[in-house]
Amino acid sequence: MPGNPYFNSLNYSMANEDAAYELGICRQIHPKKILAICGSGARFLPLASTGPEKITALDLAPQQLALADLRRTLMQHQPLEHYLRFMGYPPYSTEAFRTERAALFGELDLRSETRSYFAELFRQINWEGLLYQGRWEQTFIGIPKRLRKVVGTAYDSIFEFTSQEEQDRSLAAKLKDPIWCSVPAAVLMLMGNATFFNTVLYRGSFVRKNIPDSYFDFYSRAFKRLFANGLTRENFFLQICFLGRLQYPEGNPVEVHPDVYPLAQRALQNGTAIELIVRDILSFAAKAQDKYDFVSLSNVPSYFSGAPESNYLQSLARCLNRDALVVVRCYLRIPQGTDTSGFVDVSHEYEELAAREKMQMYRIFVYRYVG
Ligand SMILES: C[S@@+](CC[C@H](N)C(=O)[O-])C[C@H]1O[C@@H](n2cnc3c(N)ncnc32)[C@H](O)[C@@H]1O
Repeated sequence: MPGNPYFNSLNYSMANEDAAYELGICRQIHPKKILAICGSGARFLPLASTGPEKITALDLAPQQLALADLRRTLMQHQPLEHYLRFMGYPPYSTEAFRTERAALFGELDLRSETRSYFAELFRQINWEGLLYQGRWEQTFIGIPKRLRKVVGTAYDSIFEFTSQEEQDRSLAAKLKDPIWCSVPAAVLMLMGNATFFNTVLYRGSFVRKNIPDSYFDFYSRAFKRLFANGLTRENFFLQICFLGRLQYPEGNPVEVHPDVYPLAQRALQNGTAIELIVRDILSFAAKAQDKYDFVSLSNVPSYFSGAPESNYLQSLARCLNRDALVVVRCYLRIPQGTDTSGFVDVSHEYEELAAREKMQMYRIFVYRYVG
């Protein structure tokens, strides 16, 4: 993984994981110390709302840590409305408020590397909001944008349902019409195509799938679960896939939920420390001084092979308190031959949270460290 060319740029700017899952667990166990893969920052920052002493966030990509530093600074000092406007979350858009964004950026107390990285990026994008600037988001918003040139706004109506019953009934009727099905099928063909992702996004580093489903079946099943488990307009991922942007505030990711943001802000103001470190998770674990109670690994283990794939839990054990929970999201690949001794798989305790997760692209494992 270190040296992987994919993980050296701003790849994630929003959230391609629904952090409501990790947040739900932290609300139950109130961890004192949290260790997390950083990514965009939008998976670990909401966990501050549960009042931990410290969150250590790691990433191989300094660009991701700069984004987390910017998010953290905004969250600590700015009201939710300013955060929404700065990032470009609904009800605002990334194209609006460019002058206000530039003015607020000028006032923020940022690390020098964060300021210089974003000053240059904002110059290039003329002070657009950052929500879709990650390479993953750019790729995903590109799919519906291209398809909409052909079909216009025919599919926007799937975001108008206000009850699950109405949604189920209308979608069942519409899915009988082959013309209406053409866009979902085209989206699936693109998403269910490893060559596409390798060419446009992952530079040959896309995960090596080992789940038995074909790509097409995997994505079709995930989408069926998404449509059956909650209103489309309450789902940020469906909005990205079919509208190419977020449009409905009720679908905003958990970092900007009105019952999360103020609590996270208060914790950051009252002493929850955020440590941002450019390092590989396993070399960090080998030398860590702290012991952690909760670890959010994102889907990093899906990219492991060889010794790290077998030993990653044992390497992490060095820096865990007894009963610590480790959350591993597996995307297309479930690590093989992993030594789980000293850990108990307690994923079944969190099935309800898993069913409500808004992406449904991950098989999520939760391991309890029992020493
Ligand atoms: C694994 S990615 C999330 C991938 C995404 N959910 C997907 O489906 O492709 C999250 C972040 O992990 C970082 N990362 C990857 N491997 C890492 C490692 N061994 N140690 C620390 N960070 C790592 C990447 O730079 C990226 O920002």
